[in-house]
Amino acid sequence: MKRSKRFEVLEKRDVNKDGFVKDWPEVGLIAVDSPNDPKPSIKIENGIVVELDGKKREDFDFIDQFIADHAINKENCEKAMALDSVDIAKMICDINVPREEVLKVTTSITPAKLVDVVNKMNVIEMAMGLQKMRARRTPSNQCHVTNLKDNPVQIAADAAESAIRGFDEMETTVGLTRYAPFNAMALLIGSQTGRGGVLTQCSLEEATELRLGMRGFTAYAETISVYGTERVFIDGDDTPWSKSFLASSYASRGLKMRFTSGTGSEVQMGYAEGKSMLYLEARCIMITKGAGAQGLQNGSISCIGVPGAVSGGLRAVIAENLITELLDLEVASGNDQTFTHSPIRKTARTLLYILAGTDFIFSGYSAVPNYDNMFAGSNFDAEDYDDYLILQRDFKTDGGLKPVKEENVIAIRNKAAKALQAVFKELGLPVITDDEVEAATYAHGSEDMPLRNQAEDMRAAQDLLKRGITGLDIVKALAKNGFNDVAERVLNMLKQRVAGDYLHTSAIFDSNFNVISAVNDVNDYTGPGTGYRVEGKRWEEIMNINQAKGPEDLI
Ligand code: 5AD
Ligand code: CA
Repeated sequence: MKRSKRFEVLEKRDVNKDGFVKDWPEVGLIAVDSPNDPKPSIKIENGIVVELDGKKREDFDFIDQFIADHAINKENCEKAMALDSVDIAKMICDINVPREEVLKVTTSITPAKLVDVVNKMNVIEMAMGLQKMRARRTPSNQCHVTNLKDNPVQIAADAAESAIRGFDEMETTVGLTRYAPFNAMALLIGSQTGRGGVLTQCSLEEATELRLGMRGFTAYAETISVYGTERVFIDGDDTPWSKSFLASSYASRGLKMRFTSGTGSEVQMGYAEGKSMLYLEARCIMITKGAGAQGLQNGSISCIGVPGAVSGGLRAVIAENLITELLDLEVASGNDQTFTHSPIRKTARTLLYILAGTDFIFSGYSAVPNYDNMFAGSNFDAEDYDDYLILQRDFKTDGGLKPVKEENVIAIRNKAAKALQAVFKELGLPVITDDEVEAATYAHGSEDMPLRNQAEDMRAAQDLLKRGITGLDIVKALAKNGFNDVAERVLNMLKQRVAGDYLHTSAIFDSNFNVISAVNDVNDYTGPGTGYRVEGKRWEEIMNINQAKGPEDLI
C-alpha cells in the first residue's frame, strides 16, 4: 500500500511507542464493567453478613470473608445499599453535602456498590470528589530518592534538596538489597538536614523493612501490598490477616504505615478471575480499611502499564483513588511509575490530581533523574521540576512543591553530604572523601558521582545491623561532630514514636514537628470560599518562580 505521509509522521510520535490492547475480560484486561463482575447486594442476619455482592457466605473466599467481617459499617449498611448509585454519586460531587455525610454512606456499602457508584461519574466529577473527600485539608507530595549505584552520599544530598523543595515524605529503595541500612540512614540524615519533620521510608522485603523502622532508621512504611484475588495473596504466602498483623506491628512501635495496592496487579500475576480491574481494586481498598491501616498508596502504582493500555484505564485509576478517600483513608495517589513515552499523555494523567489535590499527589515524584529512579522511573522527575512549578503558578494550585534558589540547593546538599561523612567516620564505616562530598553537592545524577567500593559498603552496611546500631547512635554521631541542629531533628523523629500522634490518618509534620493530619486539619471543603485555598504566604511562594522577571529586570 502507498503510505500516507500523515500516518507516517503520526507513527513516529512518542505516544505510538506506548502499548494498547482491546478489552479482554476473560483475563481481566478490562478497566470497569467486566461481564463477570458481581452485582451489588448485602444480606445481614444477626449482625453477620450472610451474602455479599451476590455470593452466599458459604461460598466466600477469604477476601469476601475479611471484608464482610471487618470492612463494612453494618449499622447503616442495608439503608445505604438501598440508595440509588446515581444519588450517592451526586452526593460525592455536590458541594452542599459535606464530607462526613458522604462517609456515612460510603463506609457502609460493598465493593461492587462502590464501583457502581464511581462508575456513574465522569473524571471531572471524580476530581471534584478527590478535592472534597481527601482526609487532610492541606495537599502534599511524596518523592523517590534513589540512584543506580545506591550511593549514600548522593542520597543524602538529594534528600536535603527534596526537603527544601517541599516534599513531606520521601521513599528510597535499593538496587542491591544489602545496601538497605545505608540508603535508609542517608535518607534520614539528608532529609532532616533539609528540614525537620520530613517522613522517610525504605521499601524492602517486609521483615527487613520492619526491622529498619524499629531501629529508627525510617519513620514509616508503605509497600505492604494487598491484592484483589485470593490466588495472588496465596502466591505471596499472605492473607488479609497476615497483612493486618504486619500493620499492627508497625503501629505498636509508633510507626506510621499504609498499604499498597492498585489496578492491574491481579492481571499481571495471572489471577484476575475475569473480573474488572476496578472491582478487584475496590476489594483491596476494603481490605485496607478492614485491617485498620490509616491509609493506602494506590493508583495502579507499579502496574500502571496495564490500566494504561485498556480503554477507560486512566479513568479507573482516578476512580480507585477516589474510592480510597470514600473509605476515609489517607491516599498517596500514585502518579509514580512511568507508563508513557508521550509528554502530553504523562501530563494529562497527572493534571487532575495537581488541580484537585490529594493527601500525597504523587506517591513518588522522582527527585532524581529518571535513569537513577530504582522504582522503574516515575511519571515526573527532577528534570520536570520547573514545568511542575510553573503549572502550580499557572493554575494557582498547590502541588506541594516550591521554587528554590540554586545557591540554597548547593548549600543544603553540601551540608547533608558533610553530615553523612561525619556519621560514617564516627560509626567506623567506609570513608566518604571530600571529593565525594564535592561531587554530591553539585551532582544531577549518579553519572556525576565518583564510584564507591560497593562490596566494602555492603559489608559495612550489614555489619551496622549486627552491631545493633540504632537511630540514637546516629543522633550521637551527628551531635559529636557539630551537626547539633540535624541531631536534634533526628532525635525528634525518634521521640515521635513515643508520642504516636503521627499515627493519625494522613499525618505529616511541619518544620516545628507539629502534626498536620485529618484530625487537626480536617478537610472541610464545601465549595467556593471553603476548604484549602492557595493564598497568603503559600501563594507568594508559588508565584515567585526564579524565571519571572520584575520591573527591575525589564526597565
Ligand atoms: N498492587 C500491590 N502492590 C503494589 N506495589 C506496587 N504496585 C502495586 C500494586 N498494583 C508495591 C510492591 C512493590 C512496591 C514498589 O510497591 O510491593 O514492590
Ligand atoms: Ca511511594
